[in-house]
Amino acid sequence: MSDLKTPLLDELEKGAWPSFVKDLKTMADKKPMVKDLLRQLEKSYTDKRGYWKHGGLVGVMGYGGGVIGRYSALPDEFPGVSHFHTVRVNQPSGWFYTADALNELLDIWDEHGSGLLNMHGSTGDLVFLGTVTDELEPTFRALTAKDWDLGGSGSDLRTPSCCVGPARCQNACYDTLALTYDLTHKYQDELHRPMFNYKFKIKMSGCPNDCTAAIARSDLGIIGIWKDDIQVDQAAFAEYVDSGMDIQGAVVDKCPTKCISVEGKEIKIDNSDCVKCMHCINTLPKALKVGKERGAAIVLGAKAPIVEGALFGSVMVPFMKMDDFEELHDLIERIWEFWDEHGKNRERIGECVERVGLANFIEGIGLEPIPQMIKEPRDNPYIFYEEYYEEE
Ligand code: HEM
Ligand code: HEM
Ligand code: SF4
Ligand code: SF4
Repeated sequence: MSDLKTPLLDELEKGAWPSFVKDLKTMADKKPMVKDLLRQLEKSYTDKRGYWKHGGLVGVMGYGGGVIGRYSALPDEFPGVSHFHTVRVNQPSGWFYTADALNELLDIWDEHGSGLLNMHGSTGDLVFLGTVTDELEPTFRALTAKDWDLGGSGSDLRTPSCCVGPARCQNACYDTLALTYDLTHKYQDELHRPMFNYKFKIKMSGCPNDCTAAIARSDLGIIGIWKDDIQVDQAAFAEYVDSGMDIQGAVVDKCPTKCISVEGKEIKIDNSDCVKCMHCINTLPKALKVGKERGAAIVLGAKAPIVEGALFGSVMVPFMKMDDFEELHDLIERIWEFWDEHGKNRERIGECVERVGLANFIEGIGLEPIPQMIKEPRDNPYIFYEEYYEEE
């Protein structure tokens, strides 16, 4: 490594946190590609500009997505990263791996690529960072021989992704892992053959804590919710009181709709006013539990700011049973059909809905308009429904 001089990057190793520079240096001993990655990055720091180009189309036979072409703008100076393509590997539901499965993946990537990987990208996939065009087919063959598959990229269904759900979490209101598995298999065509106007991300969170940030980061978010009352274990609540916890300050005062009261060592919740923010359940996990009548809320249209500003998802269906997924499949397909017909090139579904108007959209996908279809809690009292006019 004596020939590798990276004084600016070395600065990053000095902080309190583990540094990717240290990691890259470890790999640089094994992979000339990583050495050139460090060199190019150092040059970027020196010159204060990036030297990556977005590439042309690269991929594997039969798939339209899964590989993102990436090239150095200075291939003569840094031949190791003249190609540095990124491969998205479809992650297991909830990101559970066995040690054997991880070793399998690491061996494949050590053999065919830079050995650098990211667990996990914001789309959800395990991302293999950096290989050359000639290694793409061999990587794909090695992955599929072991039953792995590529994830989505480009204008396709992105790899569906979920929280750990019922596998580890008592808050899960439906089986996020089963639904992710179901959608991944049902929509293989949409995942591997870009046919949409733009990307379409589906994220599944088991409860309103929304650990996958579906409300902000997915075109379609499926967020677990309950309909009946929060389950209360009064004995466990009394233990919290006895422990000296500041129940008033930590729970009662923080309930956004002020629907909690405490009498002696008993907690009372006016569930008709509960907006299911999860705060009390998160704070008193031994005493409070999500209700028994469980399902999911379907929110549509979130995206990060790229061309237009950021959008949050709007509620499309406030409660859907998740015992089987047929009603959901049906809704997803109607949404895609509408987007196919009315969407513009590179327009996300949320932007499409903004452009055509929510009322036209919900009519187009065959949903009845209801007051819960909101983008954010309402702050404008001047909303009139058709019935209101009819009464006049
Ligand atoms: C002009 C340069 C670049 C631009 C404009 C760019 C832009 C983006 C955008 C918009 C995304 C989000 C895509 C999505 O929402 O799914 C993304 C993701 C990503 N990019 Fe880049 N990128 C650039 C260069 C690079 C380079 C040089 C690398 C690696 C060497 C890279 C690696 C990645 C990875 C690993 C992800 C995340 C993948 C995932 O979450 O699944 N990008 N990039
Ligand atoms: C000074 C240098 C760097 C800084 C300050 C930095 C910072 C960050 C931050 C803040 C995030 C978002 C984390 C999150 O929201 O979870 C991120 C994500 C990421 N970084 Fe870095 N990073 C640096 C260098 C690198 C390098 C050199 C690589 C790869 C060789 C890399 C690969 C990634 C990837 C793949 C992601 C995830 C992208 C995604 O989730 O879509 N980063 N980085
Ligand atoms: S979203 Fe809810 S169910 Fe899923 S892991 Fe987070 S807290 Fe648990
Ligand atoms: S979930 Fe939120 S709104 Fe509902 S009772 Fe608890 S703190 Fe109040």
